[in-house]
Amino acid sequence: MASMIYHHDERAARCIAEHYEQPPLAYVHSYGCQQNVADGEKIKGVLLDIGYGLCDSPELADLILFNTCAVREHAEQRVFGNVGALKKYKQAKPGLIIGLCGCMPQQPQVVDKIRASYPYVDLVFGVNRIDLLPQLLTEKLEGKKRVLLEPGERPEVVEQIPAKRDSSYRAWLPIMNGCDNFCSYCIVPYVRGREHSRKPQDILQEFRGLVEAGYKEITLLGQNVNSYGKGLEEECDFADLMNLLCTVPGEYHIRFMTSHPKDATHKLIDTIAAQDHICNHIHLPVQCGSDRLLKKMNRHYTVEKYLGLIDYARKKIPDVTFSSDIIVGFPGETEEDFQGTLDLIRKVEYMQLFTFIYSKRAGTPAALLPDETTHEEKTERMARLLAAQEEIAFKLTAQQVGKRQIALAEGPGRNPGTVNFRLRNNLVVEIPCGMEWAGREAMVLPTGARGAMLTGELAL
Ligand code: 5AD
Ligand code: SF4
Repeated sequence: MASMIYHHDERAARCIAEHYEQPPLAYVHSYGCQQNVADGEKIKGVLLDIGYGLCDSPELADLILFNTCAVREHAEQRVFGNVGALKKYKQAKPGLIIGLCGCMPQQPQVVDKIRASYPYVDLVFGVNRIDLLPQLLTEKLEGKKRVLLEPGERPEVVEQIPAKRDSSYRAWLPIMNGCDNFCSYCIVPYVRGREHSRKPQDILQEFRGLVEAGYKEITLLGQNVNSYGKGLEEECDFADLMNLLCTVPGEYHIRFMTSHPKDATHKLIDTIAAQDHICNHIHLPVQCGSDRLLKKMNRHYTVEKYLGLIDYARKKIPDVTFSSDIIVGFPGETEEDFQGTLDLIRKVEYMQLFTFIYSKRAGTPAALLPDETTHEEKTERMARLLAAQEEIAFKLTAQQVGKRQIALAEGPGRNPGTVNFRLRNNLVVEIPCGMEWAGREAMVLPTGARGAMLTGELAL
C-alpha cells in the first residue's frame, strides 16, 4: 500500500490571504462515528495550515463545512435539513462558502441531489480527500462556481495531515482506513472504500508525539481494528501493534474501537491482559443474538463463538467490561430472533449498549431482503431492549460503589461544582471538585449510584 505525505500548500495560503482582508473563519461540524470526528480534526488542522481561523458558530463563518455520516438514513436526512437551513446565511453573506464532505458524498445519488437541488452548496468532496481541501478552496476562490468531486476511492494513505485536536488530553488515532467486511446492512465499505492499514512506524511516531504532548487517553481507531495489518510489508497484527505502542514510556492509557468479533483472537485478549496501559474495556459489537440473522448479516460468527470469546476475556482480564452495538429489526427478524438478542445481552451483561433500529441503505445486500416487520413492532422491541439493558447497567454500576480506582477527569459534571471522571471501564463518576482537575488522572472512590451514573469522591 503506497503512502504519501501531506505538504503545506503555499499557493492556497497565498490565495486565501489575498482574497480576505483578515483571516477568514471556518465552522466545521462532524456527524457520526469517532473516525469522522478524527477526520474533522484533520479538516480543521488543514484549514489552520492555510490561514483560516476556526469559530464555533455558523453565523460568524466564511466557510461552513459539514463532515457527514451515511450509516443511517435518519442521519442523512438531518444533514440535508441542516444544509437547507444554511440558505439564509448565504443570502446574508454571498461570499460564504458552504461545503459537504465525509461519507455522504461518496454516494453518487447524494452528489446528484446536491448538484440539482442545493445550488448554494459550493464544495463537495468525499472521505479520504481531506488533503485536497486547499486545492479545492483555491479553485473556488479563483472563480469556479462550484467544486463538486464525484465519489472515488483513494489508492494511498496520506500521512502527516495536521490535526487540530478538540481535547488536550484525549486523542483519536486512526490506525487504518476503510472496511472489507461487507456486513450486509452496512454502507461503510462502499463509502469508505477498501481497508488500508497505516504502517506501524507511522502510527508509533504519531503515538509517541501524543504521549510527549501530555495526552493521557489515546483511542486507536478503525472500522475493524482486529484485522489491522493486512497488506503490510512487515508482519504486524493488532496485538503486535499494541505491544509496540506500549513500549513508549509515559502515563497514558489506550482504548480501541471497533473490534469485530470474527477477528478477535485469544492473542489480542492476552495482550490486553498483559499490558497495564490498555483499558480493561472492550467494545465488541454483536449486532444481534440470532445465528440465523447473524448469517444473513454476513457477520461470520455464531452466538456460541461470541460467548466463548467473552468467557475467555472474563477469565484472563480481571474486571473486564464490555459494550456493544445492536441492530433491532433487521429484515425478517422474528420475535424468536429478538428473544435471542435479549438472552444474549442478559448473559453478557454489557456496561453500555449502542442500539439502532435497522435502516435500509440503498446498494447494500440487505436492502433487497423482504422486511415485513412494521415500524411499530420494531420500536416496541427497541423499548424492551432498552428496558432490559437499563436493568443490567444499573446493576453493574451499583457494583462499582466502594471500589477505589484510577480515572481521568474529563470536564464539568451535571451538578455545579462537580467534575466527571471516566473510569477505565468507561463508566463516569461525578465528583465535587474544581475544574483544575480536567485532563488529570486521580484515584477516585465511587460512593453512590444513580441509575447508570456514579457519584463519588477523590481518594488520593
Ligand atoms: N442500520 C442500522 N444500524 C446500522 N449500523 C450500521 N449500519 C446500519 C444500518 N443500516 C450500526 C451497526 C454498527 C454501528 C456503527 O452502526 O450496529 O456497528
Ligand atoms: Fe459496517 Fe461491518 Fe464494516 Fe463495521 S465491520 S463498518 S458494521 S461493514
